Amino acid sequence: MSETAAIAVEDLTPEQAAAELARLAAEIAGHDIAYHRNDAPVISDADYDALRRRNARIEARFPDAVRADSPSHAVGAAPATGFAKVAHVRPMLSLDNLFDDGDVDDFLERIRRFLSLEVDTVIDIVAEPKIDGVSASLRYEDGRLVQGATRGDGRIGEDITRNLRTIAAIPHELPAGAPRRIEIRGEVFMSRDAFLALNAAQEAADRAPFANPRNAAAGSLRQLDHRITAGRNLGFHAYAWGEVDALPADTQWGVLEAFTAWGFAVQPATRRSRGREEMIAFHREIEAARASLAYDIDGIVYKVDRLDWQARLGQASRAPRWAAAHKFAPEQAQTVVEEIDIQVGRTGALTPVARLQPVTVGGVVIANATLHNEDYIREKDIRVGDTVVVQRAGDVIPQVLSVVAGARPADSVGFVYPDHCPVCGSAAVRPEGEAIRRCVGGLTCSAQAVERLRHFVSRDAFDIEGLGDKQIRAFYADGLVTAPADIFTLAARDAAADGALAKREGWGETSAANLFQAIEARREIGLDRLIYSLGIRHIGQGNARLLARHHGDLASFLAACEAAAPREGAAYEALLAIDGIGAIVADALLDFLAELANRAALDELADQLEVQAVAAPAATADSPVAGKTLVFTGKLEATSRNEAKARAEAMGAKVSSAVSNKTDLVVAGPGAGSKLKKAEELGIEVIDEAAWLELAAD
Ligand code: IVH
Repeated sequence: MSETAAIAVEDLTPEQAAAELARLAAEIAGHDIAYHRNDAPVISDADYDALRRRNARIEARFPDAVRADSPSHAVGAAPATGFAKVAHVRPMLSLDNLFDDGDVDDFLERIRRFLSLEVDTVIDIVAEPKIDGVSASLRYEDGRLVQGATRGDGRIGEDITRNLRTIAAIPHELPAGAPRRIEIRGEVFMSRDAFLALNAAQEAADRAPFANPRNAAAGSLRQLDHRITAGRNLGFHAYAWGEVDALPADTQWGVLEAFTAWGFAVQPATRRSRGREEMIAFHREIEAARASLAYDIDGIVYKVDRLDWQARLGQASRAPRWAAAHKFAPEQAQTVVEEIDIQVGRTGALTPVARLQPVTVGGVVIANATLHNEDYIREKDIRVGDTVVVQRAGDVIPQVLSVVAGARPADSVGFVYPDHCPVCGSAAVRPEGEAIRRCVGGLTCSAQAVERLRHFVSRDAFDIEGLGDKQIRAFYADGLVTAPADIFTLAARDAAADGALAKREGWGETSAANLFQAIEARREIGLDRLIYSLGIRHIGQGNARLLARHHGDLASFLAACEAAAPREGAAYEALLAIDGIGAIVADALLDFLAELANRAALDELADQLEVQAVAAPAATADSPVAGKTLVFTGKLEATSRNEAKARAEAMGAKVSSAVSNKTDLVVAGPGAGSKLKKAEELGIEVIDEAAWLELAAD
């Protein structure tokens, strides 16, 4: 966390305020992309709102520090690719939030002041329950639906006409009497029942479930194949408009009535309220009833009823002055933690989950809640038997917020976080500075096995043709392949089983024979590929190559790792001395090999293989660039950058992307800029591509 994040707004110096606004702008933009573009938020709405509020309060205190890219000016995130872009003639705005009754007073007072209304003038307000879905704009011309778009960043959205047409609640035509040209705006949403059914189907098809109905609606709308959208049971409520020839009424209420007459659904519980008391009473009434609705709502939208007043009030940068969203408090309940389970994810991450006495939170029965990680449990001192407050903030997975003081049983004991994997028993380690503990039993842990096997056969690893995700899953499920070595014994076992593979669904004699041939072809494998294929954390292709080159053959590599196992002494120092290998990589490697089950799996695998030694750079010591550090910059014409790099490495050079005083030679093509300049400043030798080709031909 940044240093300024913990400072109260009142205590910030101007410099700290500027730093904090920069941090918040970046963080909020990241969350906007996660939410709007990827449909996968990483924080709760409440936490997101808190970030925005902090940003707004700092901006109010330090108006000079407001940034050009301030989140207060932006709505959502710019659209992802895949759909044509649609420019909104009238921008699609967002809404300011009101969190308590005092904020409602301020909202009405601002309107009163802006319009210079007398204190006793009644401001009629249309109050609409706010569904958590995705807004869309529908353009009708001459009574026909001609275009439908998402909000995008408010100015430019995506053309999703075909998808929107599949929604039953969206009329394709308007009756006579409707304006010749009108954009009708509203919310596309998914009911709770449709959401639960969709997630059940997702899980049955081994696809990731959606976190909440909003994400499910957004994901369903953004399908390139509109037939998928059609099967998703989406709803639509109309509540606003964009470009329009002439409106059918002069109040919000009147326009909503016209929408209904034209065949649209509007929020059923919408009410016209006269002033503060009625607004707040309505908010309370709907908040109490929210659990019984068919869909999630997260507040009440208040809109000034008179359209002439709406027009005079206009908008601030991202939201209208005539409307605001009065949020509900997140839905919470108390229950008892019956168990704390540790789940192991596909990449080995241990995640604690509270098993709860089932409790209803906002209309949904909750029996599990995330506990995030071991620090969260320790900081809140959450124990089995504790009564806790759980919160559902729109998401399916609720959170344990706090422990109820005074309700702890007398015999309660603190929760001890395991340091071994509950699935396979391997060590579970937590590298310094990381929040997550991981199982290191990569090759043998059944929670990770499928993921590891998929990596093992992937293109940059063993690259076995005909053995993709689908086959790996099926073979694993049937116990045919549970560890890498099994792949290489498959043919022999199959022969013993009378060619059973060819008789499986989707297989035949030819495809089975082809697979065995593809496997056979990979018995010979370079040490670098073998190391990479093990899927050790932090060991990608680059590090695998460094390790393989340095040690040469498998036996020397394993012997060196064994000697380095105590993590001190000459062998460990030697490992760290490999250019490019640091303590994080070395420790991940040693953690992996320290697990006996991994070693056994690797030995079994190696028995099946002929591991090829990888030539160390020393073998090319006579090349003119051996041991030198090279930088390629600018455009290369005769070869690709990758080929040039590979050639240089094969000649024993190290290729770096930045010029520093460690650089020995810069190869500069046309268009080279700052790197070339820096090389000249540092007096480093610079050659062009032709000279490089001559060198490389040696
Ligand atoms: S009016 C001109 N009315 O809430 C103001 N928005 O937080 C535009 N929403 O982008 C919005 N129900 O996706 C309006 N009855 C309602 C709404 C509503 C849900 C959503 C909409 C908007 C977001 C702003």
